[in-house]
Amino acid sequence: MKDKPLHLVVLAAGEGKRMNSGLPKVLQPLAGKPMLAHLLEAALALDPERVHVVIGHGADQVSAMLEALGDDRISTVLQLERLGTGHAVQQAMGDISASARVIVLPGDMPLVRSETLAAFARSPSALAVLSFRAPDPRGYGRILRDDQGRVVGIREQRDASEAEARITEVNSGVLAADADRLAEWLGRVDNDNAQGEYYLTDCIALAAADGAVVDAMCCGDPEETQGANNMRQLAELEDALQRRRRNALMDAGVRMPDPASVQIRARVTAGRDVVVESGAILEGEVRLGDGVVVSAGCVLRDSQLAAGTRLEPYCVLEGAETTGACTIGPFARLRPGTVLAAGVRIGNFVETKNAVFGEGAKANHLAYAGDARIGPRANLGAGTITCNYDGANKHRTTIGADAFIGSNSALVAPVTIGDRATVGAGSVISREAPPDALTVARARTRTVAGWERPVKKV
Ligand code: UD1
Ligand code: CA
Repeated sequence: MKDKPLHLVVLAAGEGKRMNSGLPKVLQPLAGKPMLAHLLEAALALDPERVHVVIGHGADQVSAMLEALGDDRISTVLQLERLGTGHAVQQAMGDISASARVIVLPGDMPLVRSETLAAFARSPSALAVLSFRAPDPRGYGRILRDDQGRVVGIREQRDASEAEARITEVNSGVLAADADRLAEWLGRVDNDNAQGEYYLTDCIALAAADGAVVDAMCCGDPEETQGANNMRQLAELEDALQRRRRNALMDAGVRMPDPASVQIRARVTAGRDVVVESGAILEGEVRLGDGVVVSAGCVLRDSQLAAGTRLEPYCVLEGAETTGACTIGPFARLRPGTVLAAGVRIGNFVETKNAVFGEGAKANHLAYAGDARIGPRANLGAGTITCNYDGANKHRTTIGADAFIGSNSALVAPVTIGDRATVGAGSVISREAPPDALTVARARTRTVAGWERPVKKV
C-alpha cells in the first residue's frame, strides 16, 4: 500500500448559501487566507502526487485562488451540477490511475492538522473514514457499527431513524480508499434518499457488504473537523485558529498579557522575551527579535524588527525593517522600504516610505520621509517633509550625517543636504544645502515699528 501513488480529491463546488456572501464558501477568509488554502496547506504535507479540486460554484474565483498558490500538483475538475458528494468525487476519478490511493477532503475543513491527515493516510483498510465524537451530532452523517464494532455504513442526518440519530460518532467528511475499488463503489451509488443526491458516504455500506475492511479512525480533537456554514461558525473557526497560534507563540516564550485580543494572520518568528500587547495584529511574514515590544494596537505586516526594538502604541508597519534597537511611535506609519538602523527614533505622526535611516537618526514628530536616505545622527525637525513627488515622478532626497533640518522645512527632491548641514526652520530647499553650513530659504523676519492696527468702521 505504501508504494501506491497518493491522489487527493478536495470537494469545493458548493455555494455555501447560508454565508449570505458573494464569495464562494471555500474562499471565505480565515486568519487572512481562504479556508481552502488552509486545508490545502495541511493536505500538501502528505506529499501527494496530485490534488484534484472539484469546483463548481464560483469556479473562476476558486481557480484564480488556486492558480495564485502556484503549486503544479494542484489541478481542478469542474462539477457542472451539484448532484452530491459521490457525484463530485466521480468527476475526479477519470484523472486518477486505478493503482492509486485516494483521500477525499471537504474544502471547508480548514483546521485539520497535517499530522492527523498523515496518521489517517497510514490506514491500510480498503476504505477508511475519519470520524469524531460530536456531543451534538445534528447535521452530520452517523457512523453505523455492527455488534462487533465493525463499521457497516454511514447514515445521513435526514435519512436517519430515531435510534440512528442518537449516535454521536459522526463522519468528518474525510475518506480514504483504493482508487479502483472506490470507482467501482461510486458506480453503484444511487440517489434514492431524502436529498435525492449521490452520497459518497453510501460507499461505506457497499464496501462492508463486499466484505472489504472498513475502518473509522476517530479524531481526538473535534476542533480539527469543524466546518463553517455561516458567518458565526466562521468566526468560531477563526477563534479556534487564533487561540492555536497564540498558544504556539506563548509556548515559545512570547508574553501576551491579553492574548484574546491579539490576531495572528502571519507566519511569526519571535526571539526571547518578546512582548505583544493588547489589540496587536500581525500579518504576512513577521519576525521579532529578542526583547521586541509590540505595544497596544500596533498592526504589522511583512516586517522585521531587530532585537530591542520597541513599538509604542498604535503604529502601523508594512514592509518595514529595523536592523538594530529602535524606538517607534506612538502613532507612526512605516511603509514599504523603510529600513531603520540601531538607535533610530521615529516619533508620533511620522510617515516613512522607501526611507533608509542611519544609526541614531531621528524624526520625532509630524514628518514625512519618502524616497530618502537619512545619514547617521541626522535630525528631522517637526513638520519636515520630503517633497518626493512632482505629480508624475518620484525623486530622491539625500541627507548627510549629523545634518539638522529645522522645523517645518520642505525638501524639494531631488535634493541633497550635506553632512553636518543646518537648514533653518521653515525653509523650502530646492537645491543642495552644502555641508558644514547654514542654509535658510524663507522670508526674513521684519518688524514694522509703530504699526497701527485697523479699527472697525462705525
Ligand atoms: C457531508 C457528509 C456527512 C458528513 C459531513 C461533514 C455526504 C453525503 N455527507 O454532509 O456524512 O458528516 O459532510 O461535514 O457526503 N460538494 C460538492 N459537490 C456536491 C456536493 C457537495 O463539491 O455536489 C462539496 C461541498 O461544497 C462541501 C462538501 O462537498 O465542501 C460536503 O458537502 P455538504 O453538502 O456540505 O455535505 P454535508 O451535508 O455537510
Ligand atoms: Ca458540510
